[in-house]
Amino acid sequence: MNHAIKNFEEYERIYNKSISDPESFWAEVAEGFHWRKKWDKVLEWDFTKPEVKWFINGKLNITENCLDRHLEKRGNQTAIIWEPNDPKEQAKHITYKELYGKVCQAANMLKRLGVKKGDRVCIYLPMIPELAYAMMACARIGAVHSVVFAGFSARSLIDRITDAGCKIVLTADGGYRGAKTIDLKGIMDEALQQCSEVEKVVVVDHVHSNPEIKQGRDLWWHDEISKVNEECEAEEMDAEDLLYILYTSGSTGRPKGMVHTIGGYMVYTDYTFRTTFQYQEGQVYWCTADIGWVTGHSYIIYGPLSAGATTVMFEGVPSWPDWGRFWQVIERHRINILYTAPTAIRALAKAPLHFVEAYDLSSLKVLGSVGEPINEEAWHWYNKNIGKGNCPIVDTYWQTETGGVMLSPIAGITKTKPGFATFPLPGVQPVIMNDGGLEVKGNKVEGRLAIQFPWPAMARTIYGDHKRFKDTYFSTFPGKYFTGDGSKRDEEGYYRITGRVDDIIIVSGHNLGTAEVESAIDEHVEVCETAVVGYPHDVKGQGIYAFVICYEKPKEEEKLRKEIIDTVSKIIGPIAKPDKIQFVSGLPKTRSGKIMRRILRKIAEGDTSNLGDVTTLLDPTVVDEIKEGAL
Ligand code: PRX
Repeated sequence: MNHAIKNFEEYERIYNKSISDPESFWAEVAEGFHWRKKWDKVLEWDFTKPEVKWFINGKLNITENCLDRHLEKRGNQTAIIWEPNDPKEQAKHITYKELYGKVCQAANMLKRLGVKKGDRVCIYLPMIPELAYAMMACARIGAVHSVVFAGFSARSLIDRITDAGCKIVLTADGGYRGAKTIDLKGIMDEALQQCSEVEKVVVVDHVHSNPEIKQGRDLWWHDEISKVNEECEAEEMDAEDLLYILYTSGSTGRPKGMVHTIGGYMVYTDYTFRTTFQYQEGQVYWCTADIGWVTGHSYIIYGPLSAGATTVMFEGVPSWPDWGRFWQVIERHRINILYTAPTAIRALAKAPLHFVEAYDLSSLKVLGSVGEPINEEAWHWYNKNIGKGNCPIVDTYWQTETGGVMLSPIAGITKTKPGFATFPLPGVQPVIMNDGGLEVKGNKVEGRLAIQFPWPAMARTIYGDHKRFKDTYFSTFPGKYFTGDGSKRDEEGYYRITGRVDDIIIVSGHNLGTAEVESAIDEHVEVCETAVVGYPHDVKGQGIYAFVICYEKPKEEEKLRKEIIDTVSKIIGPIAKPDKIQFVSGLPKTRSGKIMRRILRKIAEGDTSNLGDVTTLLDPTVVDEIKEGAL
């Protein structure tokens, strides 16, 4: 399949077709895949329930599309380049043929351990090839993977393992992140003390830390795979069977296990990968995300491998051994397409330019950005210093829930504007809604972003809680999917995402619920109540500002701050650590007890000149106190 688009008029033509006749559009795209049995009907949907089914009764296995079907033509082509944390170590080039063997072997291992179609498997691994093998091994035998980012804490693991009912866990003794080694097995052991349903733990010997092995429960990956061979017949799956669960933060309550199903997700991630980046056969593509997030699922593993690309997996961090590491990886592997996050770009832009200049970046053709709005300064820096003014930047807007890119320029085709995700991809029907729940039509408008028609990769439900799925995404604007983001459409019809309109903050491109961080802080014994808001942070995009009430006025504020930070790290993970903690004696609350976050947001932003009407507050004097103590 070739999804090269010649010019913008052609994009418009394809787009118009995709919305005037979505079923035949997607049927045509889906024709290009290997189906054991073709679908009877392309789409059934009802957003009021909500229920969405794509490629009904189609039978397939996603790994046959990502692996088997490539063997004849590109068996000896590199599928994955694995670049280790330490630049002194050799990268691994894993061909499609080798990858096929490794995935089959891991699949046989899972089968031998009793994993069956429909079982959920928790994967808590660093960015090593076994992570890719493990995910696709699950898919091969019809098991459902639930990858937990290897930066999450034991408590986060407990929640996720329990919610998904995982009986098998795949992990490693540890993971490297720059100069640090993370004790993954130790964290897993701590979690498993409270997950008695877990029967087997398979451990990759990666950092050789010689961890404690619990007899009868823990097994070494290398021992287990040595018992099985490299051929495993793929399980025949229905297009709507589960492929994976991936947890994402909600504005209230516990993380939501977003459920993605096989057929539509495969078609959409492959199509959007090729279309957005205008991927050309033979190109080397690097997405710097961790596979623990949706970006890695869709655009390190499934999309690029289905498309037969060479995809890079990087174990390390941009800052170690120095700030030239990314550029070194690009030079080393002659990377053509780079896909990264604004937070990384901002951090890299702060380092002296000689780190960039030391490397040959002439292989680059296309640059991508994902995860949060990209500010103009970062956009220009990326364009000038990395793309050398020659590489189109695709600012891709999407979510864990959407499974794949929704709004984005088409590389080299769409005229870009810094900070704009530009236009919907074919098949995507965005609408801007006002607070009254009506669509605002035309250009030069602003409101909330919703999607009015299904697309193949959308999440089907929240695992075990369909009601929450409906309440969160389909009840704000009945009959439409609500993204939770604000958006503008400018005079030329270009979309710009203005940020979350709910209580989710995007910290370094990661989605965090303020309620989740608040309840973690509240677990500190001295803390009585907390309110958390986001504020602009020059590297992270948004930082976390916590207003904390203690039972007693803290004697040693610095010490307590450190303890609170440690508490949050332990409960959620280091990504959720507050950047600023202000101790206050009260919070601005309405008479009905609701915290007026609007006021706290303004104070956190340092804009206290106009806090709006505070007369409805229960105790307006707390506002002055908070203003004076602002950090
Ligand atoms: O607020 C939007 C922001 O990230 C949110 C989704 O986060 P998550 O589910 O973790 O997925 C991130 C990777 C796909 C969105 O609701 N976001 C994502 N991409 C962009 C963005 N905001 C502005 N511009 C983007 N390109």
